[in-house]
Amino acid sequence: MGLVSVQDRVAVVTGAAQGIGLGIAGRLARSGALVVVNDLDQQRAEEAAGKLAADTGATVHAVAADVGLREGAADLVSSALARFGRVDILVNNAGIGRDRTVLKLSEEDWDEVIRVNLKGPFLAAQQVMAPMREQKHGRIVNIGSRAWLGGFGQANYSAAKGGLLSLTRTLALEGARHGITANCVMPALIETPLFQQLDDAAKARLAGTVPMGRVGRPEDVAWAVESFAADEASYVTGQHVYVCGGRSLSSAE
Ligand SMILES: NC(=O)c1ccc[n+]([C@@H]2O[C@H](COP(=O)([O-])OP(=O)(O)OC[C@H]3O[C@@H](n4cnc5c(N)ncnc54)[C@H](O)[C@@H]3O)[C@@H](O)[C@H]2O)c1
Repeated sequence: MGLVSVQDRVAVVTGAAQGIGLGIAGRLARSGALVVVNDLDQQRAEEAAGKLAADTGATVHAVAADVGLREGAADLVSSALARFGRVDILVNNAGIGRDRTVLKLSEEDWDEVIRVNLKGPFLAAQQVMAPMREQKHGRIVNIGSRAWLGGFGQANYSAAKGGLLSLTRTLALEGARHGITANCVMPALIETPLFQQLDDAAKARLAGTVPMGRVGRPEDVAWAVESFAADEASYVTGQHVYVCGGRSLSSAE
């Protein structure tokens, strides 16, 4: 993937107050996109947006919404349309984990992970499809996970991420005639606030499970997202790419 452009495109990134989402929003902002930073909490979304705007000089808009709720997804997209008049790029990044082995997994934890990680992307995609069809241009990038291959103690999470890949493929089929692409980026072991809290031994052990010998950075994921989101990626749809330092290549943990 060579030089790509998201200049002047309007990008909505869900769950972007921290971690991978913040990295994606930052990269798109530096590349000249107008960015909507979404997260659950208004203050956290505004702080992240303010910092991004100061760091990059980009126009950044904050919207607090729970994208796993129909009204939340609708508010997010209507606020983006009210502010910028269009939505070119949707990055479905918001995600949660509630790990338990199947015998211990509660119905609530099953439902909540499916709601946020799978229903949320569906609801947000549903909201952007109409304006993207009108524009005859749209890029939907879903953040999946290597865990869709199966993860011990992750029945809910891996099923949601597997479903997200299937959803991506259907969005790609339904969007194709309208200039809308949908693709999936699948990270594993990315250095986010949760990882940073681990002690050095745990960090080293985890890094040792990656063929490349290091954990990934949000910027590694952001690069792949921008490639799918770019104007030039107009003939690439329904695809997925791993950003995992080679971890998808072996079945062992
Ligand atoms: N970190 C990794 O190693 C890794 C690996 C594979 C996949 N992923 C995926 O990448 C994405 C981002 O992960 P992260 O590690 O940066 O997580 P994170 O917990 O650091 O950040 C996620 C953000 O999403 C927000 N969020 C949660 N539920 C939301 C909702 N319903 N509506 C709006 N915002 C919501 C949270 O408040 C948080 O700010 C997730 O989809 C995750 O499954 C992460």
